[in-house]
Amino acid sequence: MPRIARQSIDQVRAAADFVEIVGHYTQLKKSGANFMGCCPFHEEKTPSFSVNPVEKVYYCFGCGEGGNLFTFVQRKEGLDFAQAVEYLADKYGVTLEYEETSARGEAERRRRERLRDLLERATVYYERRLWEGKGGAAARAYLDARGLGADVCRRFRVGYAPAGWQKLRDAAVGQGFSAQELLDAGLVVPGRRGGVYDRFRDRIVFPLADDRGRTLGFGARTLGDEKPKYLNSPETALYHKSEALFGLHEAKTAASRDDRVYVVEGYTDVLALAQAGVENVVASMGTALTEQQLKRLARLSRELFLCFDADAAGVGAMSRALTLARRLGLSLHVVRMPEGLDPADYVLSGAGAEGFRELAAHSETLLRFHVRLALEANDLTRPDGRAQAFAQLKGVLAEAATPIERDEELRTIADKLHLSEESVRYLVSAGAAACTSSRSACSPAVWRCRPKGARCLAAWTRRSSRPPRRRPPSAG
Ligand code: UTP
Ligand code: MN
Repeated sequence: MPRIARQSIDQVRAAADFVEIVGHYTQLKKSGANFMGCCPFHEEKTPSFSVNPVEKVYYCFGCGEGGNLFTFVQRKEGLDFAQAVEYLADKYGVTLEYEETSARGEAERRRRERLRDLLERATVYYERRLWEGKGGAAARAYLDARGLGADVCRRFRVGYAPAGWQKLRDAAVGQGFSAQELLDAGLVVPGRRGGVYDRFRDRIVFPLADDRGRTLGFGARTLGDEKPKYLNSPETALYHKSEALFGLHEAKTAASRDDRVYVVEGYTDVLALAQAGVENVVASMGTALTEQQLKRLARLSRELFLCFDADAAGVGAMSRALTLARRLGLSLHVVRMPEGLDPADYVLSGAGAEGFRELAAHSETLLRFHVRLALEANDLTRPDGRAQAFAQLKGVLAEAATPIERDEELRTIADKLHLSEESVRYLVSAGAAACTSSRSACSPAVWRCRPKGARCLAAWTRRSSRPPRRRPPSAG
């Protein structure tokens, strides 16, 4: 992305009404030349947050949080600097200029603007189809039967893609868009005999928006049992699956208020929770959390609560997230759903927000979750079961966010595996990696709990956690 020109940034600073912006988060009262209010960055009863409307800077005498117009928007809206400038430019009608706008860059930006416009119109088109007329009746009945009310559906701009092959295409062409633009937006598919036809037909559509609520693509659910259950936008210039998070825009404010985000798997989970009053929820849309998604979430809050299925795939997805999260300084918690229920089922089954928050209150750290799984998966009454559990846990322990967290888990593990803490500490240390499997090199405690037949637990652990050797490729 090209850089925003200096004078544009100055223009935005001049145009923005800082008191109005802060006033969105906390009530301000004039106090001399400044304004005072309760701090929007920490909980307080008496105002210690001061806003200077001319310099457009703020400072909290309570928590020490301070900065300027841009840092305020960055923090509260979870944006980076350029995004904060763009957000304010949008709000206060400033046209931004970018440095070194080459002719090609300019053409590309115009092309993307057109795509955004087209996607916005498609969103409105699908919304109308859902709420107006006979075509959307079955879809309305479906949503209703699932307990998803009109309010929440409207808030997330849920729509209906009508049956028929060229309904959306015709509407868009009628508004001056080309077949190529429709293809570029991922809204149509090329037909075999030339021409294009609508990608989404007779499906409920969920717009996937960016953090400003601008549609980038769609996920479309069948009303029946057709496969696939969800049909999604392909990768486009605007939509990248690995970055997308459903519900980001709606979740932002609540996430910053509660300083936590719930991450669920599906669209309907987000809707059901939002309807129940839990608004800081986003969906990863059925995939393992990617680094880009985690980075995006990190800007909303450092406290992520994962509400995934505890099946094998879910666990694999979470263990990758553990490594990434540690790098990004995030703290991950696992909220366990009752067997066989996803968050939507659970909330709609009568548990409501109350029930969900109760589950969340009993969440465990991702590290604890892993430790428990490994301990549960092995027969700890047998030495080799304990050794196996340990082999699985060795790498996990290394992912602890803090030494305190690590030590706490270390104690649990030692207890369950009938080892001393000292032995566990030794086993996960570099010393164990260098162990020569000889009794003299081993600590007595570790030597004592080696599995049958093995000469040393450290060496045994190392062997059994090594990936199996690959067979050489066969000739031919
Ligand atoms: P689920 O199968 O759990 O669906 O997939 P769901 O969200 O609970 O939907 P309902 O309640 O059955 O209507 C979780 C997410 O995985 C993605 C979607 O984003 C879905 O919300 N998914 C699932 C697909 O992209 N394609 C599929 O075919 C299935
Ligand atoms: Mn579901």
